[in-house]
Amino acid sequence: MEKIKRTKIIDVLKREDYGTTVNVKGWVRTKRGSKAVNFIALNDGSTIKNVQIVADVTKFDEEMLKQITTGACLSVNGELVQSIGSGQAVEIQAKEIEVLGLCGNDYPMQKKGQSFEFMRQHAHMRLRTNTFGAIMRIRHNMAMAIHTFFHERGFFYFHTPIITASDCEGAGEMFQVTTMNLYDLKKDENGSIIYDDDFFGKMTSLTVSGQLEGELGATALGQIYTFGPTFRAENSNTPRHLAEFWMIEPEIAFMDQTELMDLEEEFIKYCVRWALEHCQDDLEFLNKMIDKGLIDRLKSVVDTEFVRLTYTEGIKILEEAIASGKKKFEFPISWGGDLASEHERYLVEEHFKKPVIMTDYPREIKAFYMKTNEDGKTMQGTDVLFPQIGEIIGGSVREEDYDKLMHEIEVRNIPMKDMWWYLDTRKFGSCPHAGFGLGFERLILFVTGMQNIRDVIPFPRTPKTAEF
Ligand code: 4AD
Ligand code: MG
Repeated sequence: MEKIKRTKIIDVLKREDYGTTVNVKGWVRTKRGSKAVNFIALNDGSTIKNVQIVADVTKFDEEMLKQITTGACLSVNGELVQSIGSGQAVEIQAKEIEVLGLCGNDYPMQKKGQSFEFMRQHAHMRLRTNTFGAIMRIRHNMAMAIHTFFHERGFFYFHTPIITASDCEGAGEMFQVTTMNLYDLKKDENGSIIYDDDFFGKMTSLTVSGQLEGELGATALGQIYTFGPTFRAENSNTPRHLAEFWMIEPEIAFMDQTELMDLEEEFIKYCVRWALEHCQDDLEFLNKMIDKGLIDRLKSVVDTEFVRLTYTEGIKILEEAIASGKKKFEFPISWGGDLASEHERYLVEEHFKKPVIMTDYPREIKAFYMKTNEDGKTMQGTDVLFPQIGEIIGGSVREEDYDKLMHEIEVRNIPMKDMWWYLDTRKFGSCPHAGFGLGFERLILFVTGMQNIRDVIPFPRTPKTAEF
């Protein structure tokens, strides 16, 4: 076969220099045709669109043509021609075809319309489907949006450790990291494990959040953001929880609660607008195949002002909805308790029909680092609640007062000896500061219209699943 430099399909489809010979490589989506001519839809992942290869049967070896099955990998040299019937402006009149990789009929993605559950079991191959190709390209574009947003605003990308000795959220949901022989653990007289001989000489885990180290960065560089994997060993088998997920955590010195809410809102709108501008073809596909209201929902988020509501006001609305018989919930609510996802979604999807930034939560349900309000009962949290998703951002102003922070640490029995370095920010030139964490996969869920968080990350980690 003649060697011609490969052109990506996304670029071939834009060309108008009909008559030129090009080379494309990719995987067969479908093959159809007659005794005289074969039409092969080829995709190389550069775009949701396929290029149509037209093969005159008389010009090719019959055995080779039989090898062109769904999923097979081809290299094609052919002439770029104007297309009349393929739905694209151009197609390729094949001159030479080489089958680079055969694909038998046990190829799991061969049939159309497989369930997402089935695809999850074949997550190593689902990336080759239209839907997962679209999701992964959108995921990439969202990562670019995030870096661009912060870079344009003078934030520094700050790398916080994955292995840590502290539990930022204090929820005790950490995966331990050890090189110790689990069959031969040394214990003291109380039965507690002795970590002296472990790799780090102390108990360590995978981080649940980069925030604490992020605060060290912000109180030196002014404004930073992290963007990395975080890990939670919470046994939540829900469509919105992963054991390994990516989080974006900006942290900003001298920022107050209103400015924090402004930043949260501006940030999400920027990302959604970016998707509308950079991922048109993939969004149109998802809008057609997965969720008919997707593009309208994305546009409406970009155009609406988010509701800003205190937790106390939120509880009142929920209580009124129950009292008036307008709504029944599975879980009870009362002031002081955590909102369940059904409560959050009622507020966002039914009551306001817009994203809500909820603020000023009871101390007891929030993390130790949040700034306590003057009432002594509530904290300056600022969570963003989204349609279809529930909580997409968790954020707060941080307690900058050493004594107040110490008090929270003590009442929560957080081991002090692991926190000395964090407390030093409040000891040496303490400053007001604030930040938030956005769950990357929850953003991708919203932007793609997918229903299950396991379908917006290439290789999901959830309880009892760590395949691939
Ligand atoms: O609300 P969270 O726990 O807040 C923090 O970790 C703070 N340290 C963030 C900060 O202020 N810097 O988590 C933040 C976000 C949630 O709003 C949610 O979007 C996502 O992270 N998240 C999860 N996403 C997927 N799977 C899970 N198990 C998640 N837990 C939290
Ligand atoms: Mg939270």
